[in-house]
Amino acid sequence: MNVIEVNKLTKDYGHGRGIFDVTFEVHKGETLGFLGPNGAGKSTTMRHLMGFSKPLSGTANIGGLDCTAKHHEILRNVGYLPGEVALPDGLTGREFISMMKNMRNTKGDDRTDELLKLFELDPNGDVKRMSIGEKRKLAVVTAFMSDPDILLLDEPTSGLDPVMQEVFIDFIRNEKKRGKTILLSSHIFSEVEALCDRIAIIKEGRLISTVAAADVKHGLKNEFTIEFETTDDYDRFIHSGLSPEKGNKSAKKCVISVPDKVTNHFLAALSKCSIRSIDEHSVSLEEFFMHFYKNNKKFGVGGIQNA
Ligand SMILES: Nc1ncnc2c1ncn2[C@@H]1O[C@H](COP(=O)(O)OP(=O)(O)OP(=O)(O)O)[C@@H](O)[C@H]1O
Ligand SMILES: [Mg+2]
Repeated sequence: MNVIEVNKLTKDYGHGRGIFDVTFEVHKGETLGFLGPNGAGKSTTMRHLMGFSKPLSGTANIGGLDCTAKHHEILRNVGYLPGEVALPDGLTGREFISMMKNMRNTKGDDRTDELLKLFELDPNGDVKRMSIGEKRKLAVVTAFMSDPDILLLDEPTSGLDPVMQEVFIDFIRNEKKRGKTILLSSHIFSEVEALCDRIAIIKEGRLISTVAAADVKHGLKNEFTIEFETTDDYDRFIHSGLSPEKGNKSAKKCVISVPDKVTNHFLAALSKCSIRSIDEHSVSLEEFFMHFYKNNKKFGVGGIQNA
């Protein structure tokens, strides 16, 4: 079942800026990673989902509610963590929390207290004097305190220190187990890798691709540089039916990429040879996406194609 549905959503800010025909959905209980370079349109899409901005054309629905027409219900029911946390003047963190609680009709303090403790935030200071990380923690607490089933998280860990990023990732893992539906924009690949079931890529306002995270991970190759004891070992390996990318018989060395599906074959071939050394170089999700970010390449499962 689709909880979030975005259909041909378009907002044209002029000069090629904005979002154009953006279409995707987030299934119930799923975490969809929303990735793309600066200015790609992630925050704009999320603001439309919250009903803060009216589209030029297309639709956005959450839980069957049109995000523009039912803006107030969306505000009450969806946990939103904005990319830029704007806090009002003259309030303490505690007062801001109370204000948001009234707005969202949230009862009880238990969950708020748990969140404050988990993220180690003292809410008694003036919000304007809080550090960037403290403001971000306050936004995390207010997004989650009403325990919403649907969450839009726009770069939730930017500004958090590495320890707090880990705390946040563990927290979201648990929220996923509790069945939450999450749209998460991020520039932090480890966060995306740890949390997302699928990944949607947006660039220059257009959605380029949506892929299953598991397919991306399995499509990544592990590369090995192997040095054999003798040229006989080298020959045996080279003629084992695998296809090394580079080989040098006199140096008794070869370089080979090993996709998941040939791992068994690779290990069997290695077991028949004497090996002097073996170095592994895994292509990380980060390296994979950096190609796409930098080189204007089109993204596809199992590889990167020229656009
Ligand atoms: N209110 C606005 N008026 C005019 N242009 C805007 C407005 N809001 C966003 N834009 C433009 O739309 C584009 C998309 O911006 P958006 O904030 O959605 O990017 P983003 O993907 O969230 O980037 P980042 O990773 O930097 O947060 C940018 O070129 C931005 O300048
Ligand atoms: Mg943004």
